[in-house]
Order: sequence, then structure tokens, then C-alpha cells
Amino acid sequence: MAGAIGLDIGTSGVRAAEVSSGKGRATLERLAEVPLPPGAVRDGEVVDVAAVAAALRELWATGRFSTKKVALGVANSRVVVRQVELPWMPLADLKASLAFQAQDLVPMPIDQALLDFHPLEEFEAPTGARLLRGLLVAASREMVDKLVDAVQQAKLVPTSVDLTSFAVLRSIGSVVIAGPAADGPGVPVEAIVDVGACVTNVLVHQGGVPRFVRILPMGGQHLTEAVADRLGVPFERAEQLKQELGAGAPDGPAPEWDGSESDHARRALADATSALVAEIRGSFDYYVASSGTAPIAHLLLSGGSARLAGLDARLSEATRLPVRTVTPLPRLRIGRTGLSEHALGLLAPSSTVPVGLALGAA
Ligand SMILES: Nc1ncnc2c1ncn2[C@@H]1O[C@H](COP(=O)(O)OP(=O)(O)OP(=O)(O)O)[C@@H](O)[C@H]1O
Ligand SMILES: [Mg+2]
Repeated sequence: MAGAIGLDIGTSGVRAAEVSSGKGRATLERLAEVPLPPGAVRDGEVVDVAAVAAALRELWATGRFSTKKVALGVANSRVVVRQVELPWMPLADLKASLAFQAQDLVPMPIDQALLDFHPLEEFEAPTGARLLRGLLVAASREMVDKLVDAVQQAKLVPTSVDLTSFAVLRSIGSVVIAGPAADGPGVPVEAIVDVGACVTNVLVHQGGVPRFVRILPMGGQHLTEAVADRLGVPFERAEQLKQELGAGAPDGPAPEWDGSESDHARRALADATSALVAEIRGSFDYYVASSGTAPIAHLLLSGGSARLAGLDARLSEATRLPVRTVTPLPRLRIGRTGLSEHALGLLAPSSTVPVGLALGAA
């Protein structure tokens, strides 16, 4: 059965998916999650190495995974993705000279950054020069070191570190067409938004080719905090209210104001959701303004916060796009995970990242 394992270390928990691939669809063999204590991971970044390692040990003690090799992902404010245009050269040469090429292009000292480049397309400048357009990824070395540290302390073996957004694309992006027609005319441009606790991954792609990636430092936890602040209640109570009340309806006539606790909570949620939705919309506005390609056809929504009732409608209203909430499970064969349908359903929204990381390693 041995498959590839994707390990997602998120702000609210650690989760791993084991996926095996054979003929046809990939099979989900295992899926498990262990919550993290507050502060162990902050804004998507490992802070307390020992606490994360302890959660990972528990994940491995209960998850029945067949190997200790894991593919990791990063998404936080210390990893940035920029679309850049560089003079054309063979990819190996380009990667070798990336530190030199990138020094003015990334907002961090180059000697403290891990760099990667994903070529998108070759083109010719008006001057006739041959250029290469692609996505430059720069991650803080210190941030990645801490992540790897926690994983190794749990006696796991990291085999790769991927950009979480790419894992999300692999996991739920539709119509991944191989070959030169993949991003040609007629192939719909799709937006994908994965909303977690403190990080939101925004990606625009065409036929599986990423066109735009943005990592927003906000998510569902900020909604919970808004409720806790407004009502002066503990985080746990605010979380409960959030899950009960949802994001609120799209802007319409204001509901009757009755001054109750849930009324205050509803207002806090509506305001915080507006801020989140505005930020996501802003990313698309930026994409549309800075790119000549076809308009976005629709939006896929995933992540733990996709469970927030009404977030899809708020997003659809703000972006004027059809929004569909998805998980990676329908396109996988479900193996003997040992999970009930109910348990799988609960894990599904947050499984997008670990499944995508596993698919990348399979
Ligand atoms: N039923 C629900 N309704 C609303 N929100 C929910 C529900 N269930 C979970 N959430 C929210 O989902 C968020 C966690 O999502 P997810 O598991 O994708 O984040 P994470 O990967 O741990 O964190 P991040 O990616 O931001 O570092 C939390 O903010 C939680 O409140
Ligand atoms: Mg996450």
C-alpha cells in the first residue's frame, strides 16, 4: 500500500494524507489530524518547535501511516511569490544564478532566502530580446528551518518543501490538461481560494498552469478574534458563535438590531468577513489589472474556513463570480482509511493541502 504522504502544518492543527497512485485515480489510504495548542504555529509559521513535534508524534501514533517520509508545504507571510520576467537562459543556468537574478525582486535579504523559480512561458520583448516569464518563490530560510526542525524532532523525514498554493492547485484545480494547449485560448481561467485559520492562499490558473499566487495573512481565526473582542468572551465561546452564526448574508437590508449577544456577534462576523472578502477580491483585481489573459470564469473555495456558512455567497457577491465549495475527496478513490463517512466529511475541507502535497510527491 505504501503511498506518498503530504504533511500540512497549519495554524490550527497538523494533518497528513497518504495517497497511493496506480492505474486511474489516486487512492486516499490514510487521513488524520491532530489539533495544535494556541501559539505553537502562529500565522502559518512554526514558533514552538517542541509543541509541534509533540503533535506530530501523536499524529503518527494514531494515523497508521506506512512511512515516515513526508512532503511539506509552506504558506505564511515569510514566503512570497512574484511573477517576474528574466532574460531567457537554460533552466539549470537560471536556477544556478537565481540569487543574483532575484536580489532586487524579493523583499528579503537574499542570503536569508531559499529561492525557486517556476517557468511559465517564453516570449520576445519589443526589443527582440528573448525573455522568460515565471513565478519566483522566496522563502525565509529561518522559517523553513524551524518547520523542518519540528518534523525531524518527531523522527519524520522531510523529502520536499512545496509552496502550499501549488498543493492546493494539484488537489482541487479542475481540468489539468497536459501539453501545449493547457493554457491556450478557450481553456477557462479558474480562481482557487483556500481559507485557513490565519492564512488564505489565492491562486489563479489556466489548465493547471499557475498565473497568479498570493498568500494573504488572514483567515477564519480573525473572524473568531473579532467576535471575542466585540463581545469580550473567551476564544472558545467566540469560535462556537462563529460556527453557529456563519458569515451573514450578503449586503441587503440590515437585520433587526436587538442588542443580544448573537446580534453583536453577527455584526462582528459580518464586518470581519467583509474585510477578508475585500482582501481576496483585491487580489483578483490586481491579477486582472496586471495580466492580459482571459477573465476568471469561476472560483473554487476550500480550507477549514470554507465551512463558514455564507462565505461562498459573500465571496460570490464581492467578486461577481460563481463560487463552488470543494474538497479533494470526490476525485480520489477512498481506500481503507478506517474513517467513518462522517469523520471523513469533517476532515475533508482541511484535507486540500495535505492531499495536494501527497499528490505532488506520489
Ligand atoms: N464549521 C465551521 N464553521 C466556520 N469555521 C470553521 C468551521 N470549522 C472550522 N472552521 C475554521 O477553519 C479554520 C481552520 O482552517 P484550516 O484547518 O484550513 O486552517 P489551518 O491550516 O490550521 O491554518 P492556516 O492554513 O491558516 O495556517 C479555523 O479558523 C476554524 O475556525
Ligand atoms: Mg492551512
